[in-house]
Amino acid sequence: MSEIMPAACVIGHPIAHSRSPMIHGYWLNQLGLKGHYNREDVLPENFAEFVRSLRDHGYVGCNVTLPHKEAAFRLLDRASACAQHLQVANTLWFEGDLLCGDNTDVEGFIANLDDRAPHWGTHLKKAVILGAGGAAASIIVGLQERGATDIRLVNRTIEKAEILAHRFGPTVHPTPWSDLHQCLTDADILVNTTSLGMKGQAELDIDLDPLPLKALVTDIVYVPLETGLLRQAKQRGNPIVDGLGMLLFQAVPGFEHWFGQRPTVTKELRGLIEDHIRGVTP
Ligand code: ATR
Repeated sequence: MSEIMPAACVIGHPIAHSRSPMIHGYWLNQLGLKGHYNREDVLPENFAEFVRSLRDHGYVGCNVTLPHKEAAFRLLDRASACAQHLQVANTLWFEGDLLCGDNTDVEGFIANLDDRAPHWGTHLKKAVILGAGGAAASIIVGLQERGATDIRLVNRTIEKAEILAHRFGPTVHPTPWSDLHQCLTDADILVNTTSLGMKGQAELDIDLDPLPLKALVTDIVYVPLETGLLRQAKQRGNPIVDGLGMLLFQAVPGFEHWFGQRPTVTKELRGLIEDHIRGVTP
């Protein structure tokens, strides 16, 4: 009789370019575990039905990516505190018959900075976040957890920054793009969450002159690995952290739920995904 192997997947639309199968495939292989991790391209109108019949599709759980993260949260029987706070879920698993979910983007963002810039949070007070979409919400929560008391949310559409400020409290200050120059003064960290700088998009063109040289600069864009913002920051002497580690670390809790062992983000894994991003490997 053939052995049944646990399987998980990432559900999105589109999903063809997801690197999650490479990450989980690496860990399955490295840990010598039997299992599968697939991509599932599911349209928004079919998402709820797909998740409700996840086990019938042979899955013990899944990751969820754009555009389904809010819909995933609404389907949960049991949500982590972080998922409840953000009203989105990106990692689903079963406990008995209960569908459970977490948002691991916050953990991924923080773990990446802890890994690449270990003392980044020691004197954290003022943060500047560029962008006010879903990614910005996770990063606000992460920075608040690490003690940020003054978060400037800089966005082209100020109304979106105002909505997030209303949701996440008085430490979050909606800021128009025209005030960016003056709000960089005294910043401890600058985070880009906009799509600017991503391969195929316009560059993020900002003047970093007022930013203190000790401020950490990070980008959630990881294609290319070194965005124009990171290059500019590095050239003037700021510490930088690229966005790839956020993708790698957010994957850790899901793997542990589905396959039973906590995996490690190794240098080898990072190198594998870096080569793929650079087009070295197909
Ligand atoms: P995500 O959920 O990944 O954060 P999103 O919700 O589409 O993605 O958010 C993208 C962010 O990039 C938004 O803050 C967007 O600004 P608007 O709210 O004004 O749309 C920002 N962004 C995208 N293109 C931009 C551009 N050309 N100039 C400035 N900001 C831009």
